[in-house]
Amino acid sequence: MSGPGSNDAAAAAGNPRPWWQTAVVYQVYPRSFADSSGDGVGDLRGITEHLGHLAWLGADALWLSPFYRSPMRDFGYDISDHTDVDPLFGSLADFDALLARAHELGLKVIVDYVPNHTSSDHPWFAASRSSRDDQRRDWYVWADPAPGGGPPNNWLSIWGGPAWAWDEATGQYYLHMFLGEMPDLNWRNPEVREAMFDVARTWLARGVDGFRIDVALYVMKDPELRDNPPATGGELTFHKSFGPWDEQLHVNDHAHPDAHEVWREFRALLDAAAPPDRVAIAEVHVFDPVEWASWFGTALDEFHLPFNFSLLQTPWDARAIAETVSAFERALPDAAWPNWVLGNHDEPRVASRVGPQAARAAMMLLLTLRGTPTLYYGDELGLPDVAVPPELMHDPQGRQDPALSRDPQRSPMPWSPGPGHGFTAPGAVPWLPAAPAADDLSVQRQAGDPRSMLSLTRALLAARRASPALSSGDWALEPSPGGVLAYRRAGDDERLVLLNLGAEPRTVALAGRWEVEVATGDRGGPLDAEVALDADEGVVLRPA
Ligand code: NOJ
Repeated sequence: MSGPGSNDAAAAAGNPRPWWQTAVVYQVYPRSFADSSGDGVGDLRGITEHLGHLAWLGADALWLSPFYRSPMRDFGYDISDHTDVDPLFGSLADFDALLARAHELGLKVIVDYVPNHTSSDHPWFAASRSSRDDQRRDWYVWADPAPGGGPPNNWLSIWGGPAWAWDEATGQYYLHMFLGEMPDLNWRNPEVREAMFDVARTWLARGVDGFRIDVALYVMKDPELRDNPPATGGELTFHKSFGPWDEQLHVNDHAHPDAHEVWREFRALLDAAAPPDRVAIAEVHVFDPVEWASWFGTALDEFHLPFNFSLLQTPWDARAIAETVSAFERALPDAAWPNWVLGNHDEPRVASRVGPQAARAAMMLLLTLRGTPTLYYGDELGLPDVAVPPELMHDPQGRQDPALSRDPQRSPMPWSPGPGHGFTAPGAVPWLPAAPAADDLSVQRQAGDPRSMLSLTRALLAARRASPALSSGDWALEPSPGGVLAYRRAGDDERLVLLNLGAEPRTVALAGRWEVEVATGDRGGPLDAEVALDADEGVVLRPA
């Protein structure tokens, strides 16, 4: 496949791969990473002070979740000024300093871009709701009541109740797919598109290396606002249940095909920026591999990397994972590039999902598959979900259903043992409780322990960087006994990855002579003919 966005032209010209193909992306949730001011909430200066950790670990790019001005009803995903920094996190000067330091360290910086909605505190929405005649009225999605009264259609907010809020003053409903305080923008209005594209241009001009685009497929809905049909077969739209929201098939309230055209335009804007190597990573919750692949664009001219969340819904089982990875590899358009995710600020921590021992194999999987991995802060420490008592719960999604709360996966990064854990000042109260085992899990303790999860992650990143096979080579399944996931990576060199994801020890026969490069357990040296793997054990092998 070729076209304006394709990589084969670069490859044919002998250019190296674009940086975002060989990069490992490290996600920072700004509230939870490092608090330089001692108020219990992380901030930009704190992040800047700890960028050395990313470089030391071996990550290549930082993805920063939102730090823009916001009333924080959804902790920054509800933006009231897209081009300013919220005082809680610092200032624009702090952002510039962060960017400069990251670039000095060789790290790219990807920022969150939130196109679907703004905060209801945004001046655009204040104008829009001020009168039906306001010139910004049509910047949001307003509709009259249904003929019999009540909301215009049956669309639901993901976080409970109708997706429509009644505005008494102007006598119409406005649409909000998330909180009532997060009204949806009307992307069918060219002025909105231009204003939001200007936001992107502003950050590009400041020097960011790309965007992670929030709920990218929500920007276009059915223009006639038709009802969603009922979900009769128990189908889930996402990989987890959102309660009553799952009683509908979400065919009209998001992912309208017109979204392709929006993102093609956005991509052209990125490609026109100098230097033209900025990346568009999109949050797309699409679990059908062929449909997922469509979001690269028919000419690879939409998203460079539509997030692949499939591993989040795949059972922790060798055969199931082999099938998932094969299906997404098969669906990948020629010259497009895969990507993998095992955790983020919306998902239960991988260490809690699969268990602390299996989390080591999970890290090996994430960092040895073909494609750009995204590593969520703290997963390199094996940080678990941290229980948050109901009275301390912050997350609006948790208010809909405490089981869905995302607070547990947003606990403070433990940098060192002792009060505050190096995250905040000793004596300060962190915005969310630290992990009970934060002392032992801390970066400082783990860095000194060659057997720690942190040391394993660092070794995997070093191996990945040093091996063309691991960073960009082909991927192919290898025969293996039940419970073991085995694959070969091949480029200018070769690696074999064996992961025993089952609860029983397994012996894997080896063709040829191999030696252990990285192991989740205590293992090293050359191997002949076979290797006996413990439960949850994984190895990366190189030819001996
Ligand atoms: C997806 C983000 O990842 C999530 O944290 C946020 O709450 C919603 N989009 C709304 O912006």
